[in-house]
Amino acid sequence: MIHSGKKNICTIVVCILIFGTIFIYSWKSHQLQNNISRKIFPPAKSASPASQLCRGKPAQNSITPLKDNRTFIISPYFDDRESKVTRVIGIVHHEDVKELYCWFCCQPHGQIYVSKAKIDVHSDRFGFPYGAADIVCLEPEICDPTHVSIHQSPHGNIDQLPRFEIKNRKAETFSVDFTVCISAMFGNYNNVLQFIQSMEMYKILGAQKVVVYKNSCSELMEKVLKFYMEEGTVEIIPWPINSYLKVSSKWHFSMDAKDIGYYGQITALNDCIYRNMRRSKFVVLNDADEIILPLKHPDWKTMMSSLQEQNPGTGIFLFENHIFPETISTPVFNVSSWNTVPGVNILQHVHREPDRKEVFNAKKMIIDPRRVIQTSVHSVLRAYGTSVNVPMDVALIYHCRMPHQENLPRDSLIRDTTLWKYNSSLITNVNKVLQQTVL
Ligand SMILES: *[C@@H]1O[C@H](CO)[C@@H](O)[C@H](O)[C@H]1NC(C)=O
Ligand SMILES: *[C@@H]1O[C@H](CO)[C@@H](O)[C@H](O)[C@H]1NC(C)=O
Ligand SMILES: *[C@@H]1O[C@H](CO)[C@@H](O)[C@H](O)[C@H]1NC(C)=O
Repeated sequence: MIHSGKKNICTIVVCILIFGTIFIYSWKSHQLQNNISRKIFPPAKSASPASQLCRGKPAQNSITPLKDNRTFIISPYFDDRESKVTRVIGIVHHEDVKELYCWFCCQPHGQIYVSKAKIDVHSDRFGFPYGAADIVCLEPEICDPTHVSIHQSPHGNIDQLPRFEIKNRKAETFSVDFTVCISAMFGNYNNVLQFIQSMEMYKILGAQKVVVYKNSCSELMEKVLKFYMEEGTVEIIPWPINSYLKVSSKWHFSMDAKDIGYYGQITALNDCIYRNMRRSKFVVLNDADEIILPLKHPDWKTMMSSLQEQNPGTGIFLFENHIFPETISTPVFNVSSWNTVPGVNILQHVHREPDRKEVFNAKKMIIDPRRVIQTSVHSVLRAYGTSVNVPMDVALIYHCRMPHQENLPRDSLIRDTTLWKYNSSLITNVNKVLQQTVL
């Protein structure tokens, strides 16, 4: 009895101390007029292994909605290029989400540390109510947090909230030179032949990795993706954005008044840059029907060394898009076994549309991810250093799709057989993949 009474008194004293500490820190943090403020909470009372000391439930999915249904978390990334912050890539409603807090977890004791987030909605929302956002929090100085939860309040209990691992914490040596980001595969995608051809072209040109943000595709396509995953080339990020938001297949709100543009492509691209910041020297941002074709160099590596040498201080290289209409065929490479495979055979499309007078050709990019802060689709929004336009005699984007200028007769198009330089290795490689997957 006496013994347990003493224990109770001890518990009360400990509680007073703990709540006193919380009170003081809360009061102190209110004194901070800073946009980003910090606050410390006592450690979780638990003797479990270090990784389990952090509160919250491990996030399971690549898109995690918060309770407000207005904030969607993709992933947090450590970023110390300016100050020591966690940058959470997410999607938010541009008006409704006003306040968010990072609840950091410090190892080895699971101490919690709360920091007010700066919510930076990207400027390229194109009229849609939801857009890509950086949710940026100053990290505690006393530790390198391993996990973070995002909450609408600096108070309360986060035990039931999702907890995210903070990526890019550890320095890595580059494992690859080029990673291609395919930002949204949707609409039960079934352009199997063109996808395999693009993949094999990326590999020939120097890509070791292709990240695909996959919303939906056909069963045949699943088989092909599985092959490339087992090969180690493809990484799939599931992208079920239409489970949470009404997605537009158009880029501007005025064309299709939904929640977010083009399957959340911009968010996927930004996530891809941060995901590969530490492991890839360059990131190539294009769609699956686009291939950046060097004209003076045999591959991307030699082209990029030369471009970097000529443009020191630049990490963003813009390439001009050129449409090669799939409606204009030149049946030189008619491989009979390919005729049963769904999709376009790019080797048969070697005529490109001429430039239009008042229209700029769209650009796509090869970037040094460590120089980019925020990206859009055709340019970067914020970066360290300048962007450079790569001239047409160095490279162009081979973009095989439906025509932009559909009424042009065949002889108004420009015959451009650059792609054919690669015909022999491309045909061999595509056949190998087809034999192991589709045929
Ligand atoms: C959030 O969305 C879910 C599923 O659509 C719905 O059941 C829930 O009521 C929503 N909550 C709020 C706060 O809007
Ligand atoms: C390619 O060859 C097949 C027969 O092998 C033929 O049916 C098809 O029309 C040819 N395609 C073109 C574009 O010539
Ligand atoms: C196909 O590639 C081979 C070997 O690289 C080359 O010799 C040939 O000229 C190419 N064919 C065409 C039509 O460009």
